[in-house]
Amino acid sequence: MITDKQLKALWADFFTKHGFKQIQNSSLIPENDPTVLFTTAGMHPLVPYLLGESHPAGKKLFDVQRCIRTGDIDDVGDYNHNTFFEMLGNWFLGSCPKDEMIRLSYEFLTSKDYLGLDPKRLSVTVFEGDEIAPRDEVTAKTWQECGILKENIYFNSKEDNWWGLGSGIGPCGPDTEMFYDSGKEKCSPTCRPGCHCGKYNEIWNDVFMQYKVENVGEKAKLLDNPNIDTGMGVERTVCVLNGAKSSYDVGIFKDVIDFMDSKAELKNTDETVRSYRILADHLRSSIFILGDEKAITPSNIGQGYILRRFIRRSVNHARKIGLDTKYFADIADLYINYYLDDYEILAKNRELIKRELEIEVEKFAKAIEQGYKEFEKVINGIERHKQFAKEGEIVENIISGKAAFRLFDTFGFPIELTEEIAKERGYKVDREGYNEAYKAHQEESRTASAGTFKGGLADSSYENAKLHTATHIMLAGLKKMFGNQVVQKGSNITPERLRFDFNLDHKMTENEIKTLEDFVNNVIEQKIDVTCEELTLEEAKASGAHGIFDSKYGDKVKVYFIGDVDRQICGGPHAKNTGDLHHFKIIKEESSSSGIRRIKAILD
Ligand code: ALA
Repeated sequence: MITDKQLKALWADFFTKHGFKQIQNSSLIPENDPTVLFTTAGMHPLVPYLLGESHPAGKKLFDVQRCIRTGDIDDVGDYNHNTFFEMLGNWFLGSCPKDEMIRLSYEFLTSKDYLGLDPKRLSVTVFEGDEIAPRDEVTAKTWQECGILKENIYFNSKEDNWWGLGSGIGPCGPDTEMFYDSGKEKCSPTCRPGCHCGKYNEIWNDVFMQYKVENVGEKAKLLDNPNIDTGMGVERTVCVLNGAKSSYDVGIFKDVIDFMDSKAELKNTDETVRSYRILADHLRSSIFILGDEKAITPSNIGQGYILRRFIRRSVNHARKIGLDTKYFADIADLYINYYLDDYEILAKNRELIKRELEIEVEKFAKAIEQGYKEFEKVINGIERHKQFAKEGEIVENIISGKAAFRLFDTFGFPIELTEEIAKERGYKVDREGYNEAYKAHQEESRTASAGTFKGGLADSSYENAKLHTATHIMLAGLKKMFGNQVVQKGSNITPERLRFDFNLDHKMTENEIKTLEDFVNNVIEQKIDVTCEELTLEEAKASGAHGIFDSKYGDKVKVYFIGDVDRQICGGPHAKNTGDLHHFKIIKEESSSSGIRRIKAILD
């Protein structure tokens, strides 16, 4: 039995031995990247460096990064899909020595000192080439030289062997994926790596990041400084290494599922396993989001909405297996205790996590109650229709798809619940109509969310850099006005505006807002150069820089100086001179959550 903790330690040992520097695990909420809600891969926090900024820890890095992906949320419940997961990653910044990386991958996978996998059971996929990037012969040849059997090397098109961020923009390139054969029979004669039958399990992906896409739909362009980005999913690999059928059968997931099994009315069986897994997955994701440095709470937008969905979906599945939601707090403790070695922040936020979980469960219970009332109205409507039906008109006991969708959309009533209570009353639900309404709604939200991607490579554009600099000046102003205890609680920048959360015990008065605006505009008018220095953490501290001191970037950190106004540990990028910011204006000051204020501001 190898645990996730052992796998992480092996990873650190291996890459340290090979001259790579460890960088810290970042927040689940990407800094200044409006294109996605969550960090979706280890490379996410490294985007500026993959695009050419220099990283203070050097050019060879590795880490363990917490990630959330919601694209496959409907697949959660099968044997290996998770919304939250940890990704092991390593990078070459500014160079792309493919053969060296492949040899490292082979050594880590097969060496008895590390994973010790049987080379004959390893297979790999390689990019077959297209009009943008050539067929990756070097990669195939190196794999073969290492000892991968020729018949276990497969060529694929861009659809399978090209990697970029989910938004479709940013650094990207051809990749080579590594699979371990479970020993199962092929599901069909065409079964090969990439097939989801469970025979070939993907464990690692080396991306040769030689390209970048600047706007959605545009062709990839060559990067001046190529990189290598690799990612190994911790949960999946642990599952493979233990020969387990599912990632839910090992480690902390197993403990959580066993705990639920001991408390629920319905035991963990083939019929209920999906609900057990969804609960284990969604509660873990909720705990990590609630416990994040960026302090997200349930809401109807952005990350808060995803969190709300995770919690409400958990409540529904708890109901299905007859698990009292009061046990969510115990499950939170199980996860927090398990992960606190690597994520101290969870322990620090333990009470907050449990309280917010409880509040959201209660809110949902109330919404459901209202939903029941609405349900009664729907039934009454049908009954009245029957009473006043024209001669010959037949009114069936069917709840329309539209009504069922409204119950879902407005009151959080899952369709299964509507069907269940309808049946008790002798009614049916027009499931087809419901599916149609659901689909139409999905299309709408897809179009709406596509809108948020329009900014293109917004996070590296100069507009963003200017707003980022404005954010620093503003925080300096806030500290000056209200004291040094004021710190950043969240930041999000789109090409149009900045949004900044910070702690303050009161609503800012009009006067205070004006003072803050004047402070920022004064710094702009002084046309101060923004400079950057790479310092050791100690030097940074000594220089009076603020920011996150628990060594986010290893030994050396970047400190951005705005004259005497601000010095902050930060990855950048920033404007070159404050004069470029032109004019700063606050458009909104509001409450974000208890004790946290939110400012939205623009440069005009
Ligand atoms: N970023 C790459 C992935 O997520 C390594 O697969």
